[in-house]
Amino acid sequence: ELPPRVRIHEVGARDGLQNEQSAVPTEIKAEFIHRLADAGLTTVEATSFVHPKWVPQLADAERLFPLLGDLRGVRLPVLVPNERGLERALALGADRVAVFASATESFAKANLNRTVDEALAMFDPVVNRAREHRMHVRGYLSMCFGDPWEGPVPVDQVVHVCRALLDMGCDELSLGDTIGVATPGHVRALLTALNEAGVPTDRIGVHFHDTYGQALANTLAALQHGVTTVDASAGGLGGCPYAKSATGNLATEDLVWMLHGLGIDTGVDLGRLCATSAWMAGHLGRPSPSRTVRALTHQ
Ligand code: HMG
Ligand code: MG
Repeated sequence: ELPPRVRIHEVGARDGLQNEQSAVPTEIKAEFIHRLADAGLTTVEATSFVHPKWVPQLADAERLFPLLGDLRGVRLPVLVPNERGLERALALGADRVAVFASATESFAKANLNRTVDEALAMFDPVVNRAREHRMHVRGYLSMCFGDPWEGPVPVDQVVHVCRALLDMGCDELSLGDTIGVATPGHVRALLTALNEAGVPTDRIGVHFHDTYGQALANTLAALQHGVTTVDASAGGLGGCPYAKSATGNLATEDLVWMLHGLGIDTGVDLGRLCATSAWMAGHLGRPSPSRTVRALTHQ
């Protein structure tokens, strides 16, 4: 009943580094992404083409992306909020993009300066144009379980925006527990409601943050439901600058430890991955919050 293989969507270089106080040098980011690919990760979200004042940490996207040109066979999706972002991504030859919607009005306002509907209207031409260019389009949805301003988020509200993203033409969805408040029963309820609304499980990825230590339990619940795409961040880097109380993402190493223990194939070399996160922790000047990285590298 568990899938034989899981595709890890690595978000450390984007969701992780967008949240660092100090900007990481572009060359270090490029080396990080190369090392993640060398560790066997096949989908490595590289950066985002958002307004540089909103996320200064990723303002070097134009310099970073060309440094990844030799990474053949590795998927390098990038975030784009609007047509301006898509133009920037197209100019650099990106072939996979992600738009990022919100299930709640408060976060739509904080993250995109738009209402939920205005944000969807902003994404519509982006998704259309991306598909004309035969790009793969991911649709992130934030605050799928709880919101720091609004509290618990009703399942129906999430299903509604998921449907809108798929109807717009997104190839896959990523359900974000932006502030890490989900628990396994809530995960099961949302996945079931999505199926009932006609959203097939093979179009759904999950994106957990580990604020309350539930990310692995939530992941297992999703796997049991049939989900095979899981987002994670090397070393547990991450958070979201526009969501107060968001801590790190599920650490890729902790995820790989669990999946390999379950006999699920990931293609990831855990030793190499831990070495990469320990190296990055050195650059950031603090130990990785990942339990697995700490256990295996004696940090
Ligand atoms: P706005 O202030 O409403 O922008 O921000 P605007 O549309 O009014 O445009 C204002 C100016 O910005 C214009 O310049 C535009 O050209 C320029 P002007 O004409 O005044 O000289 N501009 C841009 N410049 C460069 N690149 C662009 C761009 N867009 C406009 N792409 C906007 C709206 C969407 C731009 C802004 O709110 C924004 O950039 N937000 C991004 C926030 C963000 O990146 N958050 C983190 C990612 S989401 C996340 O982490 C959650 C996730 O991990 C899942 C989960 O955990 O839930 C994915
Ligand atoms: Mg996130």
